[in-house]
Amino acid sequence: MLPDWAVVTPARRAHIERVAALVTDWGTGMGIDPAELERWQYAAWWHDALRDAPLASEMDHGPLAADRLERDGERDRGVLDAVRYHSIGYAAWDDVGRMLYLADYLEPGRPHEVEARSALRARVAGERESVLREVASRRVQRIVQSGWPLAPETVAFWNALVSR
Ligand SMILES: [Fe+2]
Repeated sequence: MLPDWAVVTPARRAHIERVAALVTDWGTGMGIDPAELERWQYAAWWHDALRDAPLASEMDHGPLAADRLERDGERDRGVLDAVRYHSIGYAAWDDVGRMLYLADYLEPGRPHEVEARSALRARVAGERESVLREVASRRVQRIVQSGWPLAPETVAFWNALVSR
């Protein structure tokens, strides 16, 4: 569930709910244990909790939410890192960060490339590593094509993915 300090529009809330539903589908399909699935769900519910807060930007809403969660007593490093770096990627992620990164991009409510996203979604349970590389490639290409700088964390994440 959303924390009580969340600032989200109704559209954002719907996105968050779709991300949580998607990690739940994947985790159930992959047969992971309930405690691990719960970590994925926490990250999904919390990742955009401050996305519509007045002081949050595209780049800082993840770190702000992670800081707040930590102040509130959250100690799960994998969940905190998933939330903190979900916009840019992080080489040292455990499964929580990886699943959130996939679900945030592939959730079915995103309006563009509907067919391609749907095909990628269907492959996650069976071929997660190759889908992760494909999603990261798409996200990195979009940044490069837009002429924006790549965050050092994004470069390290990409390099870790292709050197596996
Ligand atoms: Fe999101």
